[in-house]
Amino acid sequence: MPKRIASIIFDVNSPDFFSPLAQARRSVRGYLSTPVPDALLHDVMRLARLAPSGANLQPGAFIAVQGSVRAQLCAELVASWRAGEQEKEDYDYFPNPMPMTLRRRQVAAAQALYGALGVARDDRAGRDAQFEQNFRFFDAPVALIVTMPHGFGSGGYMDLGMTLYGLMLAAHAKGLSTCAIGALASYPGLIRKHLALDASSHIVCGMALGYADPEAPVNQTQTTRCELDEYFKVMG
Ligand SMILES: Cc1cc2nc3c(=O)[nH]c(=O)nc-3n(C[C@H](O)[C@H](O)[C@H](O)COP(=O)(O)O)c2cc1C
Repeated sequence: MPKRIASIIFDVNSPDFFSPLAQARRSVRGYLSTPVPDALLHDVMRLARLAPSGANLQPGAFIAVQGSVRAQLCAELVASWRAGEQEKEDYDYFPNPMPMTLRRRQVAAAQALYGALGVARDDRAGRDAQFEQNFRFFDAPVALIVTMPHGFGSGGYMDLGMTLYGLMLAAHAKGLSTCAIGALASYPGLIRKHLALDASSHIVCGMALGYADPEAPVNQTQTTRCELDEYFKVMG
C-alpha cells in the first residue's frame, strides 16, 4: 500500500469535507514508481471534468504520454532546455514586466522549493537540476499534456483552470498527488511534433500525477498564501 505524505480521512457525510482536502493538497515533485491503475486515472479524469465552464463548452483536453513517446519527448525537452533553445509560447502566462508585489510571491515560492532541497540561492547548478525535472514530469508514473483548441481567449483558460484544480483535488481525495507543469508551455512546437498535433492544439501545461514519495526532500516544500484582505474586501 503506497504511503501518503499526510493521511487524512475524508468523510463525505461530514458538513465540511472540503476544508481538509483543500488544505492538504500540495504540489508534489517527488514520486514513487508505483503505477497508477488505469481505472483510477480514468475516475480522476471523469471527476475533473465535472468542473463548470462558460456555456458548458468544457474546453481543453488531456493526453497521457507513455512508453517510447514519453521517453523521446522528455529526452528532446531536456536537450532543448540544456541547449538554451527557445520557442514562442502559445499564450502569455505571467505579466511582463512582473510587478514587485507578484515578484515577491514568486521569489517566496522559489525559496520554499529550493529551501526544501537545501539548494542555495546562488547555486545555479542545483536550481537547474531541479528545473530540469519539469521536463521529465518529475518521474511521475502518469505524465499529462494539457491542450486547448486554438481560438479560446482568457475565458477558456479560466474554464480549463477549474478542470485542473478539480483534477488535483480528485486525485488527492484518492490518495494521489499532482503537480502542474507550466514550464512545458515553453516548447509547444516540440510537444506538438512528438504528439502528432497540429497548430490548432495549443499547449497549455503538463501535469505530473502519482503516489507521493514521502522520503523525497522536495516534497517538504510548503508555500503560503497572501492575507485575505489582499484579495477580498467588502464594500457598501
Ligand atoms: C498552472 C500551473 C503551472 C505550474 N507550473 C509549475 C512548474 O512548471 N514547475 C513547478 O515545479 N511547479 C509548477 N506549479 C506549481 C506551483 O509552483 C505551486 O502550485 C505554487 O507554488 C503553490 O504551491 P502548492 O501547489 O504546493 O500549494 C504550477 C502550478 C500551476 C497551477
